[in-house]
Amino acid sequence: MGFSFTTSTPTLNFTINSSSSSTPFKPPKLPLFWPWQKVKMGPMTVSPMGFGTWAWGNQFLWGYEESMDAQLQQTFNLAVENGINLFDTADSYGTGRLNGKSEKLLGKFITDIQGWCLFHLFVIFVKMCFWSSILHMIVFSGQKRIQDDIVIATKFAAYPWRLTPGQFVKACRKYNQRRYSLALAISLIVEFDEDWFSRASRDRLQIEQIGIGQLHWSTANYAPAQELALWDGLVAMYEKGLVKAVGVSNYGPRQLVKIHDYLKARGVPLCSAQVQFSLLSVGDDQLEIKNICNSLGIRLISYSPLGLGMLTGKYTASRLPSGPRALLFGQILPGLEPLLSSLREIAERRHKTIPQVALNWCICKGTIPIPGVKTVKQVEENLGALGWHLNSDEVLQLEKAASESPRKMIQNIFQTR
Ligand SMILES: NC(=O)c1ccc[n+]([C@@H]2O[C@H](COP(=O)([O-])OP(=O)(O)OC[C@H]3O[C@@H](n4cnc5c(N)ncnc54)[C@H](OP(=O)(O)O)[C@@H]3O)[C@@H](O)[C@H]2O)c1
Repeated sequence: MGFSFTTSTPTLNFTINSSSSSTPFKPPKLPLFWPWQKVKMGPMTVSPMGFGTWAWGNQFLWGYEESMDAQLQQTFNLAVENGINLFDTADSYGTGRLNGKSEKLLGKFITDIQGWCLFHLFVIFVKMCFWSSILHMIVFSGQKRIQDDIVIATKFAAYPWRLTPGQFVKACRKYNQRRYSLALAISLIVEFDEDWFSRASRDRLQIEQIGIGQLHWSTANYAPAQELALWDGLVAMYEKGLVKAVGVSNYGPRQLVKIHDYLKARGVPLCSAQVQFSLLSVGDDQLEIKNICNSLGIRLISYSPLGLGMLTGKYTASRLPSGPRALLFGQILPGLEPLLSSLREIAERRHKTIPQVALNWCICKGTIPIPGVKTVKQVEENLGALGWHLNSDEVLQLEKAASESPRKMIQNIFQTR
């Protein structure tokens, strides 16, 4: 009599059977990337790809429902188990009453992973007789506690009332234990809104220090007077040790240089800049931003690297997603065939899939893509973007095909020059 146990991860598939003769031989699987291939990001090192969590809590665009939480937790665990340690979120993610849900879910999943790690150790122990686990242990031995290794990059919205550095400190402050206990005691008598306890990012994330505190957008286009307050907010969060590093999002080339110089003068290094960067969103601005990042030592994080799903090959002009994306996809997809054909052709030749090729292109351009994921299947597939590289001819072929698409992605309304 035997028992079998199978996980759905690419690196952990195994079967145990008491009859050794029937144990199938599994060749060792190499990690998707080696520790020395991790990317330096300010004082931290991160995986060459991260994952985005905009959809976690967003009903309007992404059709989130609370029944998806168990699945989302599995996607998080699977990513971490495969060495992914960068997760992007924002204090404004989550629609309506679910505002902050993405941070809350990440907080829960990071906390729960402790228990999950004990289980994982048991799994590794059982797997000791397999080569892959020995390799896994050698490669990742000496790593810090998994929780300590996870880098949360959260974004702080430039809300109009965030006008002072203090507002930013408050946005990521963690309530101290005494105040929390007092509030808890009062809540037994007076009914409190659940969100009262989790108004700040560090509360929702349940972490002491945020990895990267990013400005979600610049107000330079519509409220230039507020811009300096935002920058001072980053400085305050960094100086108080609430964040390990600071970054920006939706900053164009001109604003990026300005904020870099300002922060530098205040002794704060700018570690990352995230922009919409994909085969559907690569123009002069993106390339200029990339060059500036290279020369100033800033990491470029590619958001929407799959063009919100258009670069996965699963949508066509006659097979559109439900919800508001259909409107945008309906305009872009009819002209996207040359690009999708190139992606498909390279994918077939390489025994990869279309999203894997699209994400690998972002990595080949020297950026860190953060594809949004909602299912275990999507994580499994997107992990396959790691561990190989397109050659320069393939990169050129894709870029040529991309340039033939008549319509590109619309740019974020907050993107500055
Ligand atoms: N700074 C900013 O202003 C900003 C703006 C946007 C995004 N972001 C960040 O960037 C992250 C990623 O961008 P995004 O979510 O906008 O778009 P994306 O990564 O281009 O697309 C993600 C969507 O594509 C689909 N997908 C992902 N992997 C797939 C696969 N292997 N096969 C088939 N479909 C797949 C899923 O949606 P379906 O299954 O529903 O098709 C998923 O939600 C966000 O989560 C967020 O963290 C930042």
